[in-house]
Amino acid sequence: MAVRPVAFRKQQPTPETEQSQLFDTHPEVRLDFSHVRDALKQGYSKPFLLIDTDIVRAKVRRFKAAMPRVHPHYAVKANPDLRVLKTLIEEGAGFEIASIAELDLLLKLKVPAAEVYYSNPVKSSDSIRYAVGKGVEWFALDSVEELRKLASVKADAKLYVRIEAPNVGSDWPLAGKFGMKAAEVDAIVAEAVALKADLAGVTFHVGSQCRNPENWRAGIQGAKRVFKKMRLAGLKPRLLNIGGGYPVRHVKPIPSIEKIAEVVNHALRDVPQSVLVMAEPGRYFVSDAGFFVCRVVGTATRSGKRWMYWDAGVFGGILETTEGLRYDVLTDRTGKLIPWNIAGPTCDAVDVCMRDEVFPEDMEEGDFIYIANAGAYTTAYASNFNGFPLPEVRVI
Ligand SMILES: Cc1ncc(COP(=O)(O)O)c(C=O)c1O
Repeated sequence: MAVRPVAFRKQQPTPETEQSQLFDTHPEVRLDFSHVRDALKQGYSKPFLLIDTDIVRAKVRRFKAAMPRVHPHYAVKANPDLRVLKTLIEEGAGFEIASIAELDLLLKLKVPAAEVYYSNPVKSSDSIRYAVGKGVEWFALDSVEELRKLASVKADAKLYVRIEAPNVGSDWPLAGKFGMKAAEVDAIVAEAVALKADLAGVTFHVGSQCRNPENWRAGIQGAKRVFKKMRLAGLKPRLLNIGGGYPVRHVKPIPSIEKIAEVVNHALRDVPQSVLVMAEPGRYFVSDAGFFVCRVVGTATRSGKRWMYWDAGVFGGILETTEGLRYDVLTDRTGKLIPWNIAGPTCDAVDVCMRDEVFPEDMEEGDFIYIANAGAYTTAYASNFNGFPLPEVRVI
């Protein structure tokens, strides 16, 4: 058995790399693999995510250096581990939440509620009431119904409208479910005026793992157009929230945060200083800090196709592959590479993480699987389905 793991999906030159100068060669970081070896010496009983909080710190600092005007509010959903959250608090990040459970995590860590932005555009009245009671001030919305709901719970709540932004080139698109079209915003502005609501901001999301900086330019331009409408209606816009989406290196080329910053900083030049500019990075802060480790529980051949079953699948945290996100996956085997279907351990047919992905042909039960840059949206997605244990988070 080889002592060094083998990376199968080294970056291949793709048409994208050739066509685009948006991608640059700024080095991206990764958790040093020797830490994974050390962690395994302490034993293995279930899948785990190993996180190096120093990398989280470095990513926050790099983000702030690249976009000095943009205050980062971490999207808790990406990885809500308390030790990760503490690190982010120490680095001066604010937070974005989707639920009151996420709010409670932050309050437990003594985060001031005013630093928490409730960016889920559709919330129950009870959740809004709870958040208001705890001191949350800012709430997202993207419908007239939500505006009325928010106004009825707290007449003077500070509100920001989520608008549609292009998700072109994003590996995990978020368009369609949320975000108002330009023509729909007029109704929100009119209703805010009628209700005397404090509609004071605009947000958008370019899609997660967004590899196209132009989406941010389009989002910011769209926000400026909404600001204009707001001012004409007598509202006082003072928040621009440019959302999440900042990508990390897996196997496809990405623009560095510095490349994205060139576009964002340029687009922000004529945004008045009276407007607070914030962002909601999730993946960018935590992905690179983690290796996800799991194990092969069995192999089989079905209709001539090789299948490999891992102790973590779609329900165990390896979910983003189902929408085409591709990780750099390593093993200790060095055999000839052949295509495998990769499934999780549960009895559900949807628990198939990858199809026709190349791995060594000599993979067998007990082999470890090491998924690089997997600190975001892995443990956060995991469930106990079929009685399999949740992956643990180990922090170094
Ligand atoms: C409202 C909102 N903000 C921020 C994020 C974080 O996005 P990312 O992890 O791509 O930075 C998400 C992700 O789903 C989101 O829904």
